Amino acid sequence: MDLHLATAEDTAQLGVALAQTRPPLAAVHLHGDLGAGKSTLARALLRGLGVTGAVRSPTYTLVERYAVEGGEAWHLDLYRLGDAGELDFLGLDEAVATLWLIEWPEKGRGGLPPPDLEIHLAIDGDGRSARLVAGSDAGRGWLAQAAKKTS
Ligand SMILES: Nc1ncnc2c1ncn2[C@@H]1O[C@H](COP(=O)(O)OP(=O)(O)OP(=O)(O)O)[C@@H](O)[C@H]1O
Ligand SMILES: [Mg+2]
Repeated sequence: MDLHLATAEDTAQLGVALAQTRPPLAAVHLHGDLGAGKSTLARALLRGLGVTGAVRSPTYTLVERYAVEGGEAWHLDLYRLGDAGELDFLGLDEAVATLWLIEWPEKGRGGLPPPDLEIHLAIDGDGRSARLVAGSDAGRGWLAQAAKKTS
């Protein structure tokens, strides 16, 4: 699915559409340069899941965890990860995460759950382009449901 997101509000609406249609277990890899809108999307998705407190960017902590229906959503930003071995120190294999939102997944190669959904964001004029690619059957179903909400 390809979308043009003219404003940050459009990016947020995509996040909400994904929240409303998410499968019970899912990993999302968020690709895109600095400022492409990855955190904007992740924050809106978490808000759409009912997270009401502060949604901090995990720039320094690398991971922020949120209680959501059915388990926990883990928001990762691996930009500052030194090497993939450091992932071990984050306690990521506790298997309580039901939703993974991973910014800069390239940095954690191998040590991360494979994506059900890959979202590629890019700066496009004053707005952003988004390409959503499913990586599993769950991801394909998710995309089909979310597409109905965004069209
Ligand atoms: N569709 C859009 N059109 C215009 N501006 C947008 C759009 N989506 C997000 N933005 C804006 O882009 C800026 C950067 O967004 P954001 O912090 O989400 O990027 P990021 O990809 O997480 O960057 P980083 O890699 O540095 O964490 C914010 O000011 C946000 O409001
Ligand atoms: Mg970010």
